[in-house]
Amino acid sequence: MNVCVIGTGYVGLVSGVCFSEIGNNVTCVDLDENKINNLRKGIVPIYEPGLEDLVIKNTKEGKLSFTTRLTEGMDNADVIIIAVGTPEKETGEADLQYVEAVAKSIGENLNGYKVIVTKSTVPVGTNRRVKELVAKYSGSGNFDVASNPEFLREGSAIHDTMNMERAIIGVESEKAGQVLSELHQPFNTTIMVTTIETAEMIKYASNAFLATKISFINEIATICEKFNADVTDVAKGMGLDGRIGSKFLNAGIGYGGSCFPKDTKALIQISGEVEHDFQLLKSVIEVNNKQQRVLLEKAKERFGNLSGKNIALLGLAFKPNTDDMRESASIVIADELVKQGAKVKGFDPIAKETARRVLPQQVEISEDMEKTLEGADIIMILTDWDEVKNLDLSTLAGKQKKPVIFDGRNCFSLDYAGQFGLEYHSIGRPSLV
Ligand code: UGA
Repeated sequence: MNVCVIGTGYVGLVSGVCFSEIGNNVTCVDLDENKINNLRKGIVPIYEPGLEDLVIKNTKEGKLSFTTRLTEGMDNADVIIIAVGTPEKETGEADLQYVEAVAKSIGENLNGYKVIVTKSTVPVGTNRRVKELVAKYSGSGNFDVASNPEFLREGSAIHDTMNMERAIIGVESEKAGQVLSELHQPFNTTIMVTTIETAEMIKYASNAFLATKISFINEIATICEKFNADVTDVAKGMGLDGRIGSKFLNAGIGYGGSCFPKDTKALIQISGEVEHDFQLLKSVIEVNNKQQRVLLEKAKERFGNLSGKNIALLGLAFKPNTDDMRESASIVIADELVKQGAKVKGFDPIAKETARRVLPQQVEISEDMEKTLEGADIIMILTDWDEVKNLDLSTLAGKQKKPVIFDGRNCFSLDYAGQFGLEYHSIGRPSLV
């Protein structure tokens, strides 16, 4: 099949590459000339394991190409995928200006039947708007619109797409349903065909539910700390019940990234439009905001004043295997520590450049964990990178000044951490002092 993907952000690029990998001819379109030139040379603008190799491989095999000209991509396309950004407005609602601009351009250039698919996360009802715009600017009805939400995670995006657990296809015509089912067949996955509104809702409901799981276990963690219970075992025990499942029950310093924070707020906004007050989701966000500051509270309780303390932050990205720091707890934590007069160093194996742009100037950023740990009074673990999880705690125990550890990701078992006489505070587990 000929596929045109508009927008080479996370979702657009990964799905374009994966659709080419399963045998389609894919043209990725983006207005950013620099980005397109780089992609043609196999230079990928984001850090995502495995992505660059697949870009190079499929470009070489002639199945994947990049252009700034929309018509070059869409003229021969059977399927056009809209994957442009839907950033958050100040009000919390999704900004649809890029989706609408693309719909207008598709309309202006429509040259035959196409299935126009929205992959960007958009509020319920947006596909109807896309349909209106394409019809208006094409003066034709020779197309179908569809919603095909994306469920990939940053850091494991290729794996998630190639092994997708489900493809949700929201359509209003049988023909579009058939075309998109055929497109997804090689993924060998469960294909669910729904109405457009249902598909749009499945995306928001999924992210909101996962965020709810995280805030729920973080609340349980807080209570566990009061009773000396261990939240890791509580989550394990809960997860043995198939109805609950063990995934996304890792207590920590809350969720970040470009999706959960944005999509939970957008769903509250969408609910408000139909006069429903989504109380549960409001609490999920409130709990998360509090949880991002939980290590600050623990350090305050332990030390009182943090002014002049040498603090090493281990991990700055919102999760491992990405350089993305959007809504990362590390930003909230670093800002506050600098404000309190602490001397802050930050380690991240990949997100150094991003960190430089978003953290206060005073934070000394390094890709060398040893350097970050030098002279630390306090260590705060913020991202569970493998480098951090593999840290040999005996080396810290051997230091003249033993640092106090606040582990926001429960990277070490209490048995292991307890071997070295270190002071170790984690989330939802008894402290070792
Ligand atoms: C999330 C969803 O998992 C994807 O299915 C979805 O496609 C994507 O949003 C999106 O809408 O585009 P992502 O934001 O890349 O993916 O990352 P996750 O792995 O979901 O992690 C989100 C945050 O939750 C991270 O800060 C992570 O540390 C935190 N988290 C996750 C926890 O604190 N505990 C957990 O048990 C799991």
